[in-house]
Amino acid sequence: MTLPATPTREFITGLPKAELHLHLEGTLEPELKLRLAERNGIDIGQSTVEEIRATYAFDSLASFLAVYYPAMEVLQTADDFYELADAYLARAAADGVRHVEMFFDPQAHTSRGVPFEAVVTGYHRAAAEAPTKHGVDAHLILCFLRDMSAESAAETLEASVPFADRILGVGLDSDERGNPPEKFAGVFARARELGYRLTMHCDIDQEGSIDNIRTVLDRIGVDRVDHGTNVVEDPALVDVVRERGLGLTCCPVSNSFVTDEMKATEIAALLRSGVRVTVNSDDPAYFGGYVADNYVALVEAAGLTTEEVVTLAANSFEASWLGDAERAEYLAEIDRYVAGHEAPSS
Ligand code: HPA
Ligand code: ZN
Repeated sequence: MTLPATPTREFITGLPKAELHLHLEGTLEPELKLRLAERNGIDIGQSTVEEIRATYAFDSLASFLAVYYPAMEVLQTADDFYELADAYLARAAADGVRHVEMFFDPQAHTSRGVPFEAVVTGYHRAAAEAPTKHGVDAHLILCFLRDMSAESAAETLEASVPFADRILGVGLDSDERGNPPEKFAGVFARARELGYRLTMHCDIDQEGSIDNIRTVLDRIGVDRVDHGTNVVEDPALVDVVRERGLGLTCCPVSNSFVTDEMKATEIAALLRSGVRVTVNSDDPAYFGGYVADNYVALVEAAGLTTEEVVTLAANSFEASWLGDAERAEYLAEIDRYVAGHEAPSS
């Protein structure tokens, strides 16, 4: 039995997969942004979808973040956060996502007076309903904003404690420049004590990318690395990532917005050297591609085979924070899906 050499979009869409690098605030589509702005009486400066999209001309992480954070003003109540997450989960289900570990940025909301509880309550309600409503198992990862102080991160971490049963892990996002991982070493050590899983962004082509990746591996002791694609520049570090079986959550379409290319060659090289590479959408409402679009873009740019695409999907469950029994069930789901698409060898 053989698989078709080149994967079709239909095959990719139906393939069971996990999404591990997804910012809920980055799923705010222009239509919902306008609806929430109107409902909450907020002037966002644009009044049509076209006007909003015209502001999405990013060429760096910083220029993206400068559009991204102000837009969050439209998110005010627990219901707003619920609607945002529910819309994403419906869209993810249509792309074959079966399990998702979703980032959220509480400080982007608490810093403008929205209670932590409203954020977590709304997002968690959508996550709790997702298995029956959308057939997706959904979990939350609390991200600290690295351009805010370590003290603010520590306060946010303590504020999360009453809600710890609704939060799987912690991450680190926002502007990496001048905000290296060691700034948050103490906060992440405390998060580990509290029982959270750990991940951190190591964004694409940053000053000191390799040093920062080394710090997150050796000093912070993360369970996964978000982006981390620059590791390819240091073969000894690639060996460490491979030997530890650490997942890298790569985001090809996002890469093409914050740098001048999607880094397909680098991502494919890491995959082919046996690193646990996964493919994800990052901020799909801003970069115009949900997870299946990211697989398709990478396949087209790097010439991935159907077998390599299946490895990416298997990696997404291997790198997830699922328990062993659930992970095995999803991997068996992939096996059944693949068996259903094999043609008899001639
Ligand atoms: N990097 C840093 N901050 C972010 C990202 C990202 O990929 N997406 C949303 N906030
Ligand atoms: Zn990200």
